[in-house]
Amino acid sequence: MISNYRKALPAFVLVVAFCVSHAVAQQPSPDEAIYKKIDVQISKMTLEEKVGMLHASSSFTSGGVPRLGIPELVTSDGPHGVRLEHGRDWRTDNDHVDDSATYLPTGVCLASTWDPQLGYAYGTVLGSEANARGKDVILGPGINIIRSPLNGRNFEYESEDPYLVSKMAVGYIKGVQDQDVSACVKHFLANNQETQRTSINVLMSERALREIYLPGFKAAVEKGGVYSVMGAYNKFRGEWCTENAYLVNNILKGEFGFKGILMSDWGAVHHTAEALWNGTDLEMGSDLLGLPYNKFLLADTVVALVKKGVIDPQTIDDKVRRILYVMYKIHKFGNRKPGAFSTKAHFAIAQKVAEEGIVLLKNNSLLPLDASAIHSIAVIGANATRPQSEGGGSSQVRTRYEITPLEGIKRIAGDGIHLTYSPGYRIAKDATADRALIDSAVEAAKKADIAVIVGGWTHGYNNYAWDDNAYDAEGIDKTDMAMPFGQDSLIAAVVKANPRTVVVLVGGGPVDMTSWINETPAVLESWYAGSEGGDALAGILFGRVSPSGKLPMTFPKTLAESPVRALGQFPGDSTTVEYDDDIFVGYRYFDTWKVKPQFAFGHGLSYTTFQYSNLTVTTHGQTAVVSLAITNTGHRAGAEVVQVYVKQNHCTLRRPEKELKGFEKVFLQPGETRNVTLTLQKDAFQYYNDLRHAWTLDPGAFTILCGSASDDIRASKVIFIK
Ligand code: GLC
Repeated sequence: MISNYRKALPAFVLVVAFCVSHAVAQQPSPDEAIYKKIDVQISKMTLEEKVGMLHASSSFTSGGVPRLGIPELVTSDGPHGVRLEHGRDWRTDNDHVDDSATYLPTGVCLASTWDPQLGYAYGTVLGSEANARGKDVILGPGINIIRSPLNGRNFEYESEDPYLVSKMAVGYIKGVQDQDVSACVKHFLANNQETQRTSINVLMSERALREIYLPGFKAAVEKGGVYSVMGAYNKFRGEWCTENAYLVNNILKGEFGFKGILMSDWGAVHHTAEALWNGTDLEMGSDLLGLPYNKFLLADTVVALVKKGVIDPQTIDDKVRRILYVMYKIHKFGNRKPGAFSTKAHFAIAQKVAEEGIVLLKNNSLLPLDASAIHSIAVIGANATRPQSEGGGSSQVRTRYEITPLEGIKRIAGDGIHLTYSPGYRIAKDATADRALIDSAVEAAKKADIAVIVGGWTHGYNNYAWDDNAYDAEGIDKTDMAMPFGQDSLIAAVVKANPRTVVVLVGGGPVDMTSWINETPAVLESWYAGSEGGDALAGILFGRVSPSGKLPMTFPKTLAESPVRALGQFPGDSTTVEYDDDIFVGYRYFDTWKVKPQFAFGHGLSYTTFQYSNLTVTTHGQTAVVSLAITNTGHRAGAEVVQVYVKQNHCTLRRPEKELKGFEKVFLQPGETRNVTLTLQKDAFQYYNDLRHAWTLDPGAFTILCGSASDDIRASKVIFIK
């Protein structure tokens, strides 16, 4: 017989459970508690104090309220390292300040790792160092879609593919923000060129907006929880991005539910009322327009407009609330975790990103180099000795050290290998092929077992002037993909003199290599690989590291074959650029129009080989579970990025041949097999029907394609989604 006690037990438990849940329900959520504090603070502020928070108080800070213990918000560039100190005034260049930071590989190299966990580690370094330098907001990541190979700032960005951008940005943002620093995802939206960046009006279809240009920002807000977004310089469909009700109020703050700060790019605010009404919470950088801080567009004028009843005070309060919300989220008012600066651990992460991001494009068995069988190496090329960290514009970093490719090769080669160095070409404005330099490089190559040419792009002609912009830099776009300084002639001559030549390309994107690629046995893309880039490159050349980088953008054979030349406009005319390439950006174009690129999106070789087997795809309603086995069938450890693309076999509206909808990087020992399982949610099958203004899934047959690159599919299955 069950005692009365036991009978009563279920009811008792229910009552306790109810009380506990009720009590918990009464506890304010962390954000509710924050907003309660914020409301108290705002209730104590004068109108002038509130408005003082909505604009810069110096080149990189915005106003606080000292009377109430509210400090300024301190921002700093940049996306791949804490920028050298600017002090209180833009042009105070404290050369003497020992503010040298970890120079992380730039965004495009991080994206080439296809390793979201590494993205988190990257963000951790950046956030910790910003925190240590007293910064509240680090102005990165830059995630503008790489629409054209000519955009000068591609090196700072990530990819041509919105899914890869989304996955890598989320890791980075969480890494930064877990260090009690706000990330600031930029530039919202469609800042995909530098030409006329502060005036160009970008036009695109709603489908291109939803399928290509918005997803990275959507993921940053909804999955990354980003606290700040930077409004871009350009116009979007006729409205400045900093006063664009559709982009900011409707989409960012409405659809995405963004609760943080929309801060302007520096000098990107144009009209007081429109900026207030249509989204800008914080005006930065208008001192670049010659305005004193109290005469910024969101400064004294706002006080007058509120007092006249033109601007609703609630509008001001909402912006102050957003700024204070971010301050609480980064523990600005107390209990902030300590930062760390330029530590060995940080440089080690920089090296890992470089090792995983450098891409082996071509290898006719020349690599890895066998140090025991090599007696001499001729290192050639001005980029072999060129530090890059302080170039490129606002993303510049002053770093404690930067291992150049030549230094890296020296450190790994040791005394057993005789090294020579020849510049091979000159980096100077209008520099062309230098016959004497080429001849001496050829002579050196002839005498060596191996020649390693390090060429490619550069930020500027002068390494250390941030505004010396030449190729991969802010404020400028390239005019074509031809390598400058006569490098093609150098490469052709050296390869002819010594067929055992490796070409290493530095830069933020592709070059036209058609004149020498067929004769060159090995080619790597090493991007701007950060403080430890030279060691990472050398480790790959000598096989200490098996390369695992995969291209985050397509490398066209020629500029003419890129979609912005074949389909769209770049950089547009004096006022407008129309994205006629629409959704067909990068591989979405090359695959659909069946144009073979030099190297495809997702391409990257390893020193080992991988077998794909046992692919199964099981559907559950409108989701699909993709499983397959990956085996390392070679003799070296290595990592493979298993890429999963989706193709809709028959569609109502034209869709790309395939689209990346999943990937996973697996590290395997020789002979090791790993099962990879990825779940494709409904959105992996949808497209945006801008005739119906809705994400749409047309039931029918889809092909799931799994491979090592977009042009290297190893296994596929047709499934039916109802
Ligand atoms: C620049 C850049 C932006 C940078 C800001 C502050 O113009 O567009 O990326 O963070 O100004 O330097």
